[in-house]
Amino acid sequence: MKGISRLRKLAPLCTIAAVALMLAACSGQYPNTTFEPHSDTGRAIDILWDRLLLLATIVFVLVEAALIFVVLRYRKRPADTGKPPQTHGNSALEIIWTIIPAFILLFIAVPTVKTIFDTQAKAVAGSLEIEVIGHQWWWEFRYPEYHIVTANEIYIPTGRTVNFKMTSQDVIHSFWVPQLSGKRDVIANRTNYIWFTPDSALGPAVWNGFCTEYCGTSHAKMRFRVFTVKPDQFASWVAGQQRPASFGAAPNAPPPMLLPFPGARGDRNPEPPAPAPAAAAELVSNAAPYTFPRNQAEFEYAKPHTPIPADLNFTPGLTGSAARGQQVFSSSACIACHTVTGNPSAMGLSAPNLTHFGSRATIGAGSFPNTPAYLALWIKNARKMKPGILMPTLGKNEFDPQMKLTVTTGGLDDQQIADIVAYLTALK
Ligand code: CUA
Repeated sequence: MKGISRLRKLAPLCTIAAVALMLAACSGQYPNTTFEPHSDTGRAIDILWDRLLLLATIVFVLVEAALIFVVLRYRKRPADTGKPPQTHGNSALEIIWTIIPAFILLFIAVPTVKTIFDTQAKAVAGSLEIEVIGHQWWWEFRYPEYHIVTANEIYIPTGRTVNFKMTSQDVIHSFWVPQLSGKRDVIANRTNYIWFTPDSALGPAVWNGFCTEYCGTSHAKMRFRVFTVKPDQFASWVAGQQRPASFGAAPNAPPPMLLPFPGARGDRNPEPPAPAPAAAAELVSNAAPYTFPRNQAEFEYAKPHTPIPADLNFTPGLTGSAARGQQVFSSSACIACHTVTGNPSAMGLSAPNLTHFGSRATIGAGSFPNTPAYLALWIKNARKMKPGILMPTLGKNEFDPQMKLTVTTGGLDDQQIADIVAYLTALK
């Protein structure tokens, strides 16, 4: 009886803990929850999860109830002496306890396999294809249909299926936008696909995306943003992205160059550049291209809050010149890795394409807000802000934590960095 009274004492505590847990789950904003899907694929996974949770709960309650009943009903009593009756072999019982789990598994397997087949099927015709290339530690995104190359941020129209064609430049990464769909591994020398259709009812919104496979030192800083926008806003954005850089572009700049998709050797995007959709073509001439409005309180969750290293400083009050910045940028190491379409000297391909950098909300693969203050520190010593990356430490007299040396000759002073910041910010 001692055990029973102890149970009675614990019961209210357990109830309070359970209620507190439930209340905690109901309050607050959870921008990365998978329980509020906003696409067909996300919903299919969520429905499957709900069903499995229900079945598992029923099994759990029945098993635990039977267990507690047996423990209490057949516990040892003072009058009991010797061993209880011993049973060896019972065919009927063994058949029953084999059939019941098989039956339960059937209820789990059928909807699971169906959901796998549904979500792994080929994307519907007319889907928007986006090529995803994982890099340590950033995301390259290409829209072959529109000849757009961008990095770490994508715009997708609501109501249209987006088919992501994914591969990696180096190690295994994994692509995940929790509120839009499930995860998919991004593997070198292999092409994986995932597709989903953002709900037509969605207004313009931003979703956090993550690399969800440990891929090295800065795995946690390999994030991205997905902007779901209305189809006309998407067309406007596309038209803007198809133009060369808005600042200091050479006249008659070549169209964005697309290199072969690393997963499919020899595939050189043979089709000629697709004309912009009609809506986009109309918008090209008059309106400014659509970009997702920044600094909306509603989307505060999408703003990165990575702390900056305490020993990284920048001269306050410097004003940069975009024209000077373009010269410094175009004559420095930046151009060996970065492309700015319209700037004929910047055609590097190993780092994020910066053509419309000024229109992006984040830097460092979703790690920091794209503001002049953060950008200046980033150019000065990116390796301090995001360990292990290829982007070198550029600031004069800055310590490069990877090379373990201080940058001297060739390093940029704060004024030169402020100029580059002004230039990059002007690339809307
Ligand atoms: Cu890429 Cu983790």
